[in-house]
Amino acid sequence: MNGLLKFITCGSVDDGKSTLIGHMLYEAKLIFADQQNSLILDSKLGSRSSGIDYSLLLDGLMAEREQGITIDVAYRYFNTSNRSFIVADTPGHEQYTRNMAVGASFADLAIILVDATKGILTQTKRHIRICSLMGISHFVFAINKMDLIDYDEARFNTISNHIHELMQLYRYDSIIVIPVSATEGDNITTCSVAMPWYTKDALLPYLERVDTSCVEENKSFIMTVSRACRPNVDFRGFQGQVAQGSLALGDEVIILPMREKANVKQLLNTNIETDNISAGQAVTIVLDREVDCSRGCIITKDKSISSYRLFRADLLWTDDEELVIGRTLLLKIGTKVTQATVIKIHYCVDINSGEHILQKQAHKNDIINCDISLSEKVVLDKFETAKDLGRFILINRVTNATAACGVISYPLFRSDNLTWQNLDITREVRANQKNQTPMTLWFTGLSGSGKSTIANALEKMLVSELKHTMLLDGDNVRMGLNNNLGFSEEDRVENIRRIAETAKLMNDAGLIVLVAAISPFAKDRDNARAIIGEGFVEIYVSTSLDECIRRDTKNLYKKAINGEIKNFTGISSPYEAPLNAEIVIDTADKTIDEMLEEIRKFI
Ligand code: ADX
Repeated sequence: MNGLLKFITCGSVDDGKSTLIGHMLYEAKLIFADQQNSLILDSKLGSRSSGIDYSLLLDGLMAEREQGITIDVAYRYFNTSNRSFIVADTPGHEQYTRNMAVGASFADLAIILVDATKGILTQTKRHIRICSLMGISHFVFAINKMDLIDYDEARFNTISNHIHELMQLYRYDSIIVIPVSATEGDNITTCSVAMPWYTKDALLPYLERVDTSCVEENKSFIMTVSRACRPNVDFRGFQGQVAQGSLALGDEVIILPMREKANVKQLLNTNIETDNISAGQAVTIVLDREVDCSRGCIITKDKSISSYRLFRADLLWTDDEELVIGRTLLLKIGTKVTQATVIKIHYCVDINSGEHILQKQAHKNDIINCDISLSEKVVLDKFETAKDLGRFILINRVTNATAACGVISYPLFRSDNLTWQNLDITREVRANQKNQTPMTLWFTGLSGSGKSTIANALEKMLVSELKHTMLLDGDNVRMGLNNNLGFSEEDRVENIRRIAETAKLMNDAGLIVLVAAISPFAKDRDNARAIIGEGFVEIYVSTSLDECIRRDTKNLYKKAINGEIKNFTGISSPYEAPLNAEIVIDTADKTIDEMLEEIRKFI
């Protein structure tokens, strides 16, 4: 029996993806009898001749999945007498590329469906590129709907040649092109009599025999711990699935991120004691000494694996929102989740040619090469050397959706040699000296809403009460520290980040800081809140756009409306009003003293 095969099917909505897998399961008698009956009953459309719509088999799964909210991919398990399979089933709807990338990151092989009546489409090229990006090196091209082109050998050969030509752009270990009809069952489990000219394997027999075990000899042992198991005081084992390499009794291992060392005392493969474990096995490792190791830690033999804060990566951007340089996202590698920022985009990859296009932004479905910076050191490695430590997803912090799937090209060292210095005079000491509690009062609102006016009056009041303060006003900061920034979304992200970092330093100095900046994007205010931490108070000055336009104190709205100023907040650039501000101030019906009183009550 060959080892487990994890595969993914890729195709556009009408390519017959579900029908293909459904038919394979059906013909290989892999469906339970009752499921088969309901399939016949449910069959609304029927296939072109047999009257059974095999795609319903998987569509049933889809209905199940739709009840869940965040499941990107459903996995279906099945066995034949020769092999066990897991197929990542990814729905063919709009989010398809994202789900496909997630599915591809787990798979060893991809079945790429090509509609024989249409040939290779841009979509096909996209599927190949994403599979290749996510590390798939075994490809099956199923040229489907052969029945609709009268099983034409010449047409098949043209498509097959086109595929081989196309695949020269990629690195791969195996490739086969199979003419099939998913509805009629040609070349699915047995060779089709309709295509005697095709002499290679039918799909299922091929999947049963294809060897996807990559050359593992040189790969060093890596396992991410999924559980520390302690059934009694005498036994403490670390459980997980071996990602790569092998391990023997007595071997020395390193436990990351702590970098503790120990030797292997006992090994269990499932529940059976053994001298040796290797890739793919579910194991328990017992070490000869107590180490700091829990879920998410990594056990390895490779001394070169380390933790980093910065790396170069290739990724597929899948979020509906454009990627903005400098904006904080969440990154997930294995079980580890941390804050991350794309700090530079080097280029975007042309789906068709693979050429590198110089581009500063990334839109949905772009494949880009970029640098990513993390808020803490994380154990990671090149995807090439350690798949499990080299692939990641990025998550949109507001929607919680997967914003990108990527692989690490290599770690970068830039800020790795920095150490945080603990100083004797702390924030508390400085605050006590000034006899006050440092805080940041962050005023947000449209230009002309009254932020600066209120902040200015509040500072005067605080100083008259002998408080030590500093007012960071958007316009003023932009004339100095931020004089290299404009009003693009990217520049505003950086503007707010710098103001937040400055406010934080000033809080550390013991000061009460007042910030008056439009700060139009919710994500960036959230980020400011995260940077500043304790003592952050968001004050929304909620003066309406109409009122700000009417006041037009700086004469800017008129220019913006005339198109003389680009990206003007409220006119040609959005303002996202806070939903959970600590204080909301409406300037329309209150005197300045009333407003100050409201803030004072809060602080
Ligand atoms: S923010 O959006 O990045 O937070 P910030 O508060 O620093 O903006 O600066 C806003 C000030 O810059 C406005 O009060 C206005 O005087 C000036 N300004 C110039 N161009 C623009 C623009 N396109 N959008 C908004 N404000 C602008």
